[in-house]
Amino acid sequence: MEVLVEVKNQIKRFIEVCSYPKALELLEKLATGKMLRSKLILKIAGVSEDSIKLCAVVEMIHAASLLHDDVIDEADTRRGKPSINALYSDKTSIMFGDILYSRAFTELSQMDKRVAYHISNAVTELSIGEMMDVDLTNSFNTSYDKYLTMIYKKTASLIEASARSAAILVGLDSEKYAIYGKNLGLAFQMIDDILDITSDSQTLGKPAMLDFVEGKVTIPYLYLYERIEDKAKLQSLYKKELNNEELSWIKEQLEQTNALKDAINEARQIGLEAIKSISDEKNSEDLIQIMSAMIEREF
Ligand code: FPP
Ligand code: MG
Repeated sequence: MEVLVEVKNQIKRFIEVCSYPKALELLEKLATGKMLRSKLILKIAGVSEDSIKLCAVVEMIHAASLLHDDVIDEADTRRGKPSINALYSDKTSIMFGDILYSRAFTELSQMDKRVAYHISNAVTELSIGEMMDVDLTNSFNTSYDKYLTMIYKKTASLIEASARSAAILVGLDSEKYAIYGKNLGLAFQMIDDILDITSDSQTLGKPAMLDFVEGKVTIPYLYLYERIEDKAKLQSLYKKELNNEELSWIKEQLEQTNALKDAINEARQIGLEAIKSISDEKNSEDLIQIMSAMIEREF
């Protein structure tokens, strides 16, 4: 999408305002992701000065959150490339995150009041979600509700706010788009959590099945825990460096109990909920396509 280049140029112009060359140098070093949030905003609001600016603001907030997250998670790579904390330092990653974050908020303060409200509110949710995520790794979480609340806050809230804001910009029924965005975000995070199990480390750009080792009991493991007979064995492997035999045992159990299959079905179900909320809208085909592209990633 040509227009995504325009979003990147807009981000660059927003950072140029700082008149600090190192900030631009760091911006160049950021690995670009799928820009899901921008694609969503542009599909809903079309291409305009306002929609491009909204995309830039949301991408800057998202990038800032990842810069902080990589420090919190002590991650060396981001999207298969060295992370900023690995290339420079934790301090640099935090400071550059702060620059992106605050520049985004200055621009947000100049936008529609409702957009400013929903996006800024989502950043609070995002921050609470991150704290919940970290806190949930203290002990083996067996609550699906806690998992769902955490992924809603950490991931879905900003996608929900993006879809809602895009609809506000062009006077569409923002509530419907918010529901679409929320469910898209939930399904997206669930699928990410599933891919941690089903993808190989090369595709992921990080070791496979790292979540469980790091203490994250994601949806496939929640289902597995509910269904497995030898709960003690599963718990004994929690937060442990797993050898090949242990890895295959977990994979086998995930298959045998249908925990993995049902986790995929749950994500698909939530995807269908998203589609239902916008099915009468005139751009529904595009939004259905975004959803299916996201869900049908390699399992
Ligand atoms: C990635 O999760 C993390 C997030 C989506 C949110 C992180 C949010 C903050 C650090 C709050 C601070 C916010 C700002 C704007 C400064 P993950 O670790 O599960 O995913 P990963 O595998 O991609 O790292
Ligand atoms: Mg992380």
